[in-house]
Amino acid sequence: MLRAMNVEHPGVRIRPIREEDRHAVLTLAHRLTEGVAEWRDPEAVVEAARQWLAGSLTPEGDRPGAVFVAETDDGVVGVVSVNTHQHFTGTVDAYVGELAVAPHAVRGGVGRQLMAAAETWARRQGVRHLTLETGAANTTARRFYAALGFREEAIRLTRTLDEGNA
Ligand SMILES: CC(C)(COP(=O)(O)OP(=O)(O)OC[C@H]1O[C@@H](n2cnc3c(N)ncnc32)[C@H](O)[C@@H]1OP(=O)(O)O)[C@@H](O)C(=O)NCCC(=O)NCCS
Repeated sequence: MLRAMNVEHPGVRIRPIREEDRHAVLTLAHRLTEGVAEWRDPEAVVEAARQWLAGSLTPEGDRPGAVFVAETDDGVVGVVSVNTHQHFTGTVDAYVGELAVAPHAVRGGVGRQLMAAAETWARRQGVRHLTLETGAANTTARRFYAALGFREEAIRLTRTLDEGNA
């Protein structure tokens, strides 16, 4: 059962993304490198993040999920994308693809508000679970999601295939 992650912070507005947000949202791409495994190419991560975020700017009717931005009087300070995703058991879950808050806006409740918007969207789809993935080394995100009531469900393991551990 999803519990509400409700909070509203004065001065932060959550709304669907618009084309004019493109530059501000793409600027947040580097935030998605946080906690990525050291054996991954950071530049490739930024490029992938830029492509995911650019994809979120396609017209609403053309994309299945939803994308929300957090805006203050100073501009866009955060973004979240949410979609549906079929779990291997056949259940359809809601899935948060990207969540990023600008460095100058962290710890102000913006992430919590963006996740509340994703949750509201998820509830409207009639799904029972809201899921996501994050880097094992992303301690900030893991603490954040734990504070919002998320429980860890799966762990992906990687072994680097080089001479040292053949
Ligand atoms: C993770 C992230 C989205 C959190 O956004 P935020 O706006 O700072 O989060 P909030 O202010 O809403 O925090 C909500 C709660 O999460 C927890 N939390 C957030 N950041 C934390 C941190 N650095 N350490 C410990 N707990 C933290 C706290 O319990 C916090 O409540 P509190 O401030 O009342 O104590 C933000 O740090 C971010 O953009 N990180 C880089 C991108 C990323 O990792 N995205 C998620 C993985 S895909």
